Amino acid sequence: MSYTIETVATVAGGKNPSGTWTNLDDLWRAVEQPLRSRGNDIHTPLSVMFAEFLLDAHPEADPLVTRTAILLHDTGWSRCDESKIFTEGFQGDWRKSDIRRLHELEGCNIAREVLPGLGYDEETIKRVTDIIDGHDTRMESYSIEDSLVRDADRLWRFTPAGIALASGWFKKTPSQYRIQLQETTYPELITETARALASAELARSIELLKLDVI
Ligand SMILES: [Fe+2]
Ligand SMILES: [Fe+2]
Repeated sequence: MSYTIETVATVAGGKNPSGTWTNLDDLWRAVEQPLRSRGNDIHTPLSVMFAEFLLDAHPEADPLVTRTAILLHDTGWSRCDESKIFTEGFQGDWRKSDIRRLHELEGCNIAREVLPGLGYDEETIKRVTDIIDGHDTRMESYSIEDSLVRDADRLWRFTPAGIALASGWFKKTPSQYRIQLQETTYPELITETARALASAELARSIELLKLDVI
């Protein structure tokens, strides 16, 4: 990992994505309540921002499908039993737990409920739900938009906010969680752009949170 915020345009360096995007504020408002569960009102805005950085580097990807899918991907947690989210959802073979599968299916349901009223056509909704369905439990990516959503879903965890929330979910200290990021999350990144963003973000988080010291 040799990228830093001096060489990579990313959140930690105060940069914004350079593309211009359709305003999704009505969609944000439509799912405000579902986003209030499990820290998704922190995770999701950061991951949407990372998706836009990835879209800057991948003009071949459909921005509306990518941004809508990452915005909605975890809304299904709001329909899962809160007490099971942190037991079954983050322990053992957490990626394959029933509650993980349920949050994907409920996320697809929420997408089908809110998107038609916001002017989305059926084909776009299908492309969005195809990504939400299996975003955690299916290991392979089916399209470039799917890949960018998978990368954006992971990238926020390299930020101080991501380390703060996720280290608690996994019952680790921030420096223990940093090892998980480097050994498990980083190798799962699909695009080179995501690896550059993750490296630069983590380098800054290591500085800010003193992860080489405590
Ligand atoms: Fe998820
Ligand atoms: Fe997520």
